[in-house]
Amino acid sequence: MSSLRIQALTKRYGTVAAAFEVAFEVRSGGTIALLGPAGCGKTTILRCIAGLETPDWGSIKIDGEPVFDRANAIDIAPERRALGVVFQSHAIWPHMTVAANVAFPLKVRGMPEAERLDRAANMLEQVGLKGFEDRPATLLSVEQQHRIALARALVHEPKLVLFDEALANLDLRSRPRMRTELRMLQERLGFTAIYVTHDPAEAFGLADDIILLNHGAIEAMGPAREMFLRPRSAFAARFFGMNVLEGRLIGPAADNRYLEVELSARLVIRGVAAPEQELQEGGRVLACIRKDAVRLIRAQPQVEAPGVIVAASFLGADEEYLVDIAGIRIEAVAPASGLAKGDKVHVMMTPDQWVFVR
Ligand SMILES: Nc1ncnc2c1ncn2[C@@H]1O[C@H](COP(=O)(O)OP(=O)(O)O)[C@@H](O)[C@H]1O
Ligand SMILES: [Mg+2]
Repeated sequence: MSSLRIQALTKRYGTVAAAFEVAFEVRSGGTIALLGPAGCGKTTILRCIAGLETPDWGSIKIDGEPVFDRANAIDIAPERRALGVVFQSHAIWPHMTVAANVAFPLKVRGMPEAERLDRAANMLEQVGLKGFEDRPATLLSVEQQHRIALARALVHEPKLVLFDEALANLDLRSRPRMRTELRMLQERLGFTAIYVTHDPAEAFGLADDIILLNHGAIEAMGPAREMFLRPRSAFAARFFGMNVLEGRLIGPAADNRYLEVELSARLVIRGVAAPEQELQEGGRVLACIRKDAVRLIRAQPQVEAPGVIVAASFLGADEEYLVDIAGIRIEAVAPASGLAKGDKVHVMMTPDQWVFVR
């Protein structure tokens, strides 16, 4: 059974469609990430699911039960939707102890004190805060406060948990740790999770399936790996940080396995069409390649080389290069190899790495 089923969800603010005819399903115990740039409607969709925002149209079912259905005038109050929410800002109650913060949702639900403190202690152990029960909540670090918020969202054992940029507040060191722990916690407790994030790495790390949003509408939906390796639109390719270059489709290459695309009079590449593109021979295509799939090899000074480094930026473990090949500029990322502006390079781009979209 699906844990969440959304159909035709639309929400407008004035003339802006923050969510437009959004439809998806998440199976029970599944994980999905709503991914996209700032302002694409992620939070709006999450707030509609939670009942904190009233959609203009559509329906939302949780565990088969309609919680919102515009056509049938159903709109269940947020506290009766049996879900947990973790927001970017934790909103920890400063005047309460750690345990009281976590037990609060149980108090609201009328559970006796002994039982709710018992449950809170158990959940604190799950998130690695055993022994912190009686501390004032504000004396804990940002990461620990994040764990409190997590425990508080999970303590009433919701089957569906919504996370809005939940790791964005954490520093770079604790983010990967929390991501791994969150994934393990989700598997252990078995709740269905919806993660909202603008960060592809976070989405891939947390969720099996990705929904990419573009101006309130679903641009792409599918398994993380497939979406990253075989983007089906220029928007998706750009969002995942690929090079996107305009070219003209010549036609099938002599080997009949690849397509040939002319990027400039002096630069013709071979690659594959993304699924469902209907590319026209002689027509415009957008050629996409990941930056890390562009391999640069330093050329000996006396040898003719097709590429020249236009810019290099040191990023730590990696280095980012802008390389000019026959007047076309392509970005490359590689383990820091010390290439510098003006260096001549051979550029390796295998046909299997080039993806053509409309
Ligand atoms: N309460 C609101 N009033 C007016 N416009 C809003 C409101 N909330 C969101 N929006 C607009 O809706 C769009 C989607 O916003 P949001 O869902 O917050 O995006 P995201 O979470 O992906 O950054 C944006 O254009 C934003 O400005
Ligand atoms: Mg948001």
